[in-house]
Amino acid sequence: MTGPDSHPRVPVIAIDGPTASGKGTVASRAAAALDFHYLESGALYRLVAYLGGSDPVRDAAGLDVAFRDGSIILSGQDVTDHIRTEAVGNRASEVAKIPQLRGALLARQRAFRRPPGLVADGRDMGTVVFPDAVLKVFLTASAEVRATRRHKQLIDKGIHANLAALSRDLAERDARDAARAVAPLRPAGDAVVLDSSALTVDEVVDKVLMLFRKRNAGLA
Ligand code: CDP
Repeated sequence: MTGPDSHPRVPVIAIDGPTASGKGTVASRAAAALDFHYLESGALYRLVAYLGGSDPVRDAAGLDVAFRDGSIILSGQDVTDHIRTEAVGNRASEVAKIPQLRGALLARQRAFRRPPGLVADGRDMGTVVFPDAVLKVFLTASAEVRATRRHKQLIDKGIHANLAALSRDLAERDARDAARAVAPLRPAGDAVVLDSSALTVDEVVDKVLMLFRKRNAGLA
């Protein structure tokens, strides 16, 4: 059984925050810079939503998934693009309310904690999954900036998107994620809250790396 304390000395950087705050980009870049493993926890909820089965808790427990060079392979099929749609994201936030489902995904997430370290992004990395993370960052940005970023991301991928509809969905998803009874979206008490509204991705990544180095040196 993999518990939170099974690798107590393997450092974890937890990056949580609302939708389209840039967590994924920042977390994967920070992981690459440090040569750490990377966990995109939202992908697990997206996969369960994508499967759309009548028993999502069983689907979560039995997920046959592999993360390979930025691709997500579900039961042997590359589903990376299929799970990135807004529709799947919105459904993911629905299934994510189910406490047993969250429990079913816990050990799988903690198993990503392997030497030399892990950067994990999501909603509850610092509060529930890795409460002993050496650095917890809560990454935010104004709702307007986040909607604009997500819009650009989708357009760049050739996916049709409407800014007003995106803003509405984003606000709904934030509210659902923040209001749920289990693992609601909120900063851990010891998290550094970083507003990225006026920062570039490079600036945010640098800030995270700087905070991590300070923590490691016992300076902050
Ligand atoms: O990329 P985006 O922030 O829009 O979404 P995501 O991180 O892929 O997560 C999709 C949904 O899964 C979120 O709206 C959450 O409801 C849920 N989720 C969660 O509950 N806990 C996590 N650790 C990660 C995602």
